[in-house]
Amino acid sequence: MTSASTQPSAISSDPLTLIDVDHVRFYVGNAKQAAYFYAHTFGFRIDQIADLTTGSREEADYLLTQGNIRILLTTPLTKEHPAAEEIKLYGDGIKEVALTVEDATATYNKAIENGAECAQAPRTLEDERGTVTVASIKVYGRVIHTFVSRTGEYSHENLRKGGPFMPTFKKFDSPLNTYNEDHPCGLMYCDHFVGNVEEGKMNYWVKWYEDVLGFKMFKHFDDADISTEFSALMSKVMASGNNLIKMPINEPADGVKKSQILEYLEWHNMTPGVQHLAFRTDDEIGTITELRRRGVDFLSMPDTYYELVWERVNKMLQQHGHEMVKEDHKRIRDLGILVDADDEGYLLQLFTKPLQDRPTFFIEIICRRGSQSFGKGNFKALFESLELEQERRGNL
Ligand code: FE2
Repeated sequence: MTSASTQPSAISSDPLTLIDVDHVRFYVGNAKQAAYFYAHTFGFRIDQIADLTTGSREEADYLLTQGNIRILLTTPLTKEHPAAEEIKLYGDGIKEVALTVEDATATYNKAIENGAECAQAPRTLEDERGTVTVASIKVYGRVIHTFVSRTGEYSHENLRKGGPFMPTFKKFDSPLNTYNEDHPCGLMYCDHFVGNVEEGKMNYWVKWYEDVLGFKMFKHFDDADISTEFSALMSKVMASGNNLIKMPINEPADGVKKSQILEYLEWHNMTPGVQHLAFRTDDEIGTITELRRRGVDFLSMPDTYYELVWERVNKMLQQHGHEMVKEDHKRIRDLGILVDADDEGYLLQLFTKPLQDRPTFFIEIICRRGSQSFGKGNFKALFESLELEQERRGNL
């Protein structure tokens, strides 16, 4: 896979080269309580906080960590804080997908040159431990991308080892952290983020990711693949140049009944946002067993799903010469895990129900065995299941 265009020096000189997902920031109504929810149910460590006790007078922030995942929960402390208005409009949800880069200012300038709109101009936070430079651009709806570059004790390498996150943050201690170390959930990193945009806007945002961030289209599902009798969506997957980050973009499509994308938008002030975030595990059965034990509420599939799944999956794996699904089939069924296969292998995945009272944001747990797609074969089954839930909420 070496060529002149992929030499390391060529990559590092491009300011759009992404190093990592630095963190994902949620705006929430009560960060203290949300932190305990995510720690209890998904096994996150409540690692560091910034609040009144550390001199943060406008907002309180809780940094949750697990594997190479960093979730930042932010709640406003004043009615003037911009998060206060957003929470009123959209409820709890993802505000920011932050990306670690070599030089945040250079990346920001390049993105602006490529047509991005400023959300926050570059600024450097600094103390005796080092510096963190952040700069943000607007994406769809309420969402922003923040570029982050780090020096000193704040370096990306140090952060991954549990080092300090940003100035004003202090380490947090909780018996729950010890419990979670003893009962790991096995979440490793963010596999992909899915955005819901308005009808007719998917291609606009596909082009935006190409033009502004140099992303490429990764996979394409057409309408016919994933429509059900009642609802439909269109989806295209954008991936960063090094495939580090994948961002599928959905838009609603016409159906006999209301699409789930439209339901999301209606409960999100008709404003685009992140529909789901997928966490990667290398042990789907172990992870789902532990998350179910902790009370995570997952979507359930119609019983007929498991009568059809093995024939569908095995046929695809055989056709392309891949090994069959090695995980225990009965446990997969008992845990309600979904299985899909493509020309590269298979994947195991499962979706939670919305994590707040509004039917908006949810989480996916995914394990890949060769397959790099997103469970296209499960879309139809998933949407049938989602519609059942929608019907129960009286929103179909
Ligand atoms: Fe997904």
